Amino acid sequence: MKKYMEKSKKLKLIDKFWKLYRKIYKLPKLARIEACSICQLDCRDCYMRKNSNNNPIIGNGYLKFDDFKNFIKRNQYIKQIELSFSGEIFLNPDLLDIIKYAYTEGIILTAHNGVNFNNVSDEILEALVKYKFKGITISIDGTSNETYKRYRRNGNYDTVINNIKKLNNYKEKYNSIFPILTWQYIVFEHNKHEICNIDEIAKELNFARIYLKEAWNNEVKIHEITRFPLRILTNSKEIIKTFESINFGLCEQLWYSPQINWDGTLLGCCCSTHHNLNINVFKTGLKKALSSKKMKLMKNIITGKEHANDTIACNWCYLYKIKKEHNTFINPKKLRFN
Ligand SMILES: C[S@@+](CC[C@H](N)C(=O)[O-])C[C@H]1O[C@@H](n2cnc3c(N)ncnc32)[C@H](O)[C@@H]1O
Ligand code: SF4
Ligand code: SF4
Repeated sequence: MKKYMEKSKKLKLIDKFWKLYRKIYKLPKLARIEACSICQLDCRDCYMRKNSNNNPIIGNGYLKFDDFKNFIKRNQYIKQIELSFSGEIFLNPDLLDIIKYAYTEGIILTAHNGVNFNNVSDEILEALVKYKFKGITISIDGTSNETYKRYRRNGNYDTVINNIKKLNNYKEKYNSIFPILTWQYIVFEHNKHEICNIDEIAKELNFARIYLKEAWNNEVKIHEITRFPLRILTNSKEIIKTFESINFGLCEQLWYSPQINWDGTLLGCCCSTHHNLNINVFKTGLKKALSSKKMKLMKNIITGKEHANDTIACNWCYLYKIKKEHNTFINPKKLRFN
């Protein structure tokens, strides 16, 4: 008992130290590292599957366990990692080791950018529960296979639902609420008639949130369908609290949760899929990469101190356009580091 108390005291002190370190150097608590840019599906408008299946900036690959481990050891102020980005995390052959290691090091893992959940082994499903993977957003754009596979080409609705049921069985076995599930439904003309079914199915499958997302081609205007595209289906304070930690804008990712590619290249934010910042976090360490020349330029652009140019993703981003038009650039003084 005494030994345990001493250990938890020591851990609290270490935590305090890194908190102070983050505050002094204005460093993030979260990072986004792509677990796998490869995908087995062929969704019609996916920027990764267009142009002969090759996005030269992101490339095809996955986060290696050794890189993940070294990243955690080297950047100990990072406490949470978002793994999903441009592909399907469950195709990463090192994922089991990554999940286990994160758990032993007290690192929170999430996949809120999205997963298609078509191919998940029983071993991984169990590990997600056993090692308390915090939250997953599952992309399901339909409530029947016929509708679902019109966008999610090569995918199967029934397989996804079956995987969710298996995951729920493990949650029961381990008496755990993790991973907390969000249902993301991209609204297209071909699937909007099935939105009315989601609530019932979501409750049956133990989803905590429903998120109706506007498609990149904006073919259906969400505000014309609903005033509440994001809905929380639970009263659990613990669950609601877990969502708060990721509740900030996309541009704020530059400060709060920078996006890193699977090979360590710094991208900046998750909208920066066609430009990188010419520095490798796995080689330099995150702190150095975050104060590199191009990263500083990207931050200056979005705080309105410099103009965008064609080497930086903001130049083409709708959010930059809006910020410029309405002069609503980020105010660095309002950023908080804890
Ligand atoms: C490139 S995907 C990668 C993650 C995962 N494979 C998935 O599909 O959820 C990144 C995010 O874009 C979403 N997405 C895909 N096609 C989209 C579209 N046409 N409009 C809006 N979001 C889309 C995905 O659902 C996911 O949330
Ligand atoms: S499942 Fe995700 S990554 Fe895969 S093709 Fe579809 S949108 Fe792209
Ligand atoms: S404006 Fe720039 S920083 Fe903001 S989301 Fe777009 S690319 Fe990222």
